[in-house]
Amino acid sequence: MAKKIQAIRGMNDCLPTQSPLWQKLENTVKNVISAYGYNEVRMPIVEMTHLFSRAIGEVTDVVEKEMYTFEDRNGDSLTLRPEGTAGCVRSCIENSLINRDEQRLWYMGPMFRHERPQKGRYRQFHQCGVEVFGLEGPDVDAELIMMTARLWRELGIDKHVRLELNSIGSLEDRANYRTALIEFLEQHIDILDDDCKRRMHTNPLRVLDTKNPDVQAILGDAPRLSDYLGEESKEHFTGLCELLDAAGIEYTVNERLVRGLDYYNRTVFEWITESLGAQGTVCGGGRYDGLVEQLGGKATPAVGFAMGLERLVLMLETLELTDVRRSVDVYMVTAGEGTMLAGMKLAETLREQVPGLRVMSHFGGGNFKKQFKRADKVGAAVALVLGENEVADNTVVVKDLIGGTQDTLSQADVVAKLAELV
Ligand code: HAM
Repeated sequence: MAKKIQAIRGMNDCLPTQSPLWQKLENTVKNVISAYGYNEVRMPIVEMTHLFSRAIGEVTDVVEKEMYTFEDRNGDSLTLRPEGTAGCVRSCIENSLINRDEQRLWYMGPMFRHERPQKGRYRQFHQCGVEVFGLEGPDVDAELIMMTARLWRELGIDKHVRLELNSIGSLEDRANYRTALIEFLEQHIDILDDDCKRRMHTNPLRVLDTKNPDVQAILGDAPRLSDYLGEESKEHFTGLCELLDAAGIEYTVNERLVRGLDYYNRTVFEWITESLGAQGTVCGGGRYDGLVEQLGGKATPAVGFAMGLERLVLMLETLELTDVRRSVDVYMVTAGEGTMLAGMKLAETLREQVPGLRVMSHFGGGNFKKQFKRADKVGAAVALVLGENEVADNTVVVKDLIGGTQDTLSQADVVAKLAELV
């Protein structure tokens, strides 16, 4: 036998047993976002490498060590998108979507990061992201958080996620803070690990979310970003907190929350769960008012977030919220001369007259026993049985596979009966 070929590490199939839960999640997400009037945008999965290095920042984990970058046949450096914001901004600028108008957009699809795979962390993973352009907030910042809170309620996971919030101020606020933070870090240089030392000058704010416990211990005494926020940033943040309070959304302000991508300013937030172990951030986002201009567009305020769909699926599984709609309602069983064609015709009529009904026809022959076994295997609620007699007098046997009862109905009456299944 030829050697089997395996999938790439950290890149998973979504198998037929798993896809109903994924579809349920995706549909719920789409319905919640649509309830706010947002529109879908679909971007390419591959973009020019410099889009990501410019947007996300040269000195970030994503750009430094996680991108899938390759040269294409004409020598361009291309990258599989590690996230959606950069491509969304590129598309909005290129298609003149944000010159005059505001935009409220969402997207869903695969992203790629060469991270060490573990539960909840993959090399190909899926995000649903929302991006808003042209609004300064904080009202829209609050709406995005309310939208996610509604989604958690709809999914039934709201008691298992908590919201962390911070303001990282404007570029100038951060420049002032940066100087003070570097000064502090220099005083503790002997405690910093190599990564922190390197970041101290290139991207010192990232030292704040180090996982190194020794460094964490000294950070309690570090200067606080909140002391360096300008009046406007403070007002913006207070405005957001008031709106969230009024909406009854609980949060904790985490002054160390800085996020791993460089484009943020002012509002940043993360939804975190304890039910997944180390990879507990299910959704993260914030404001990025400078990015459109930085990528060659007209200065435009912007805010957004993205959630990790694998992590949400894992949460639904962990919390046993895995009830999904049956993929087959009715299994069509036939036996005898001319019954196969009659069965396929009846199945077509049912699909037409009972929208949403899922009807599977039996193929491949076999006796009733074998056919009923298949019907059970695919999880059908009802088997319809057509023999030569039924075909002759336009009836059908309706076998309830859950209750075990059986009835013979006219083919006209069966429509009303099956409508109950949808
Ligand atoms: P991010 O925090 O890098 O933000 O990713 C958002 C979410 O994607 C994470 O909270 C997590 O749930 C999921 N995620 C990230 N990496 C992985 C992975 N390797 N495996 C599984 N799930 C993962 C962004 O990507 C920003 N673009 C969000 C944003 C949109 N900010 C403003 N607009």
